[in-house]
Amino acid sequence: MTDVITIDGPAGSGKSTVSRLLAKKINCLYLDTGAMYRAVALAASRKGISFSDGKRLGELCRSLELYFTTDADPPRLFLGKEDISVPIRTPDMDMLSSEVSAVKEVREAMMELQRKMARGISIVAEGRDMGTVVFPEARHKFFLTASPEVRAERRYKEMVGRGESVSKEIVEAKLRKRDHQDKTRLLAPLKPATSAKLIDSTKLTPDEIVRDILKDLKKRNA
Ligand code: DC
Repeated sequence: MTDVITIDGPAGSGKSTVSRLLAKKINCLYLDTGAMYRAVALAASRKGISFSDGKRLGELCRSLELYFTTDADPPRLFLGKEDISVPIRTPDMDMLSSEVSAVKEVREAMMELQRKMARGISIVAEGRDMGTVVFPEARHKFFLTASPEVRAERRYKEMVGRGESVSKEIVEAKLRKRDHQDKTRLLAPLKPATSAKLIDSTKLTPDEIVRDILKDLKKRNA
């Protein structure tokens, strides 16, 4: 590991856009760990593996050929030869990835893979437990928040933009449910690392947040 910047936060807090923009600005690799849990959920559901079968899920995780290609923006995620960037973003995968991410064997395998992917390079790692569990020694940690209403609104617009027909109320209810699951699970629950800088993104654009983070990094490195 050379240098890791961690950006954690709940769904819709803006962390994906911010992480991607930041990584581009400082010429680092962007690691989208949520996409990795989504890939596990997709592969497990395709194979009909029960989410209560930790042993099989662990085996599945270790057998997955997962890799990001960085020639596109946002990066594409491949499972073997298949580009799964689109099928992992369905509303079903939102909920299933949250459920499967609570399984011990899945978290262990993903943590190992995430650390392996970060070895020897500088990265911006985005997720729920980057600063607390996966890269606790990272020098720079950020935690993005925003009100549930604003996060749901962002998620709703994103989905409508993709051509999905959804109701705002359902999007908000599902987002709150997923928040609850991610925050209350026993392993690596969503929470800020003690040394993380909290950023409330409710009234900020991604560009403004990136500017704040860059200022902060400069100050720390001075
Ligand atoms: O960031 P996302 O919405 O794509 O993440 C999907 C789910 O994956 C999220 O609800 C919880 C899980 N996740 C996790 O447990 N740990 C991470 N580091 C990233 C995501």
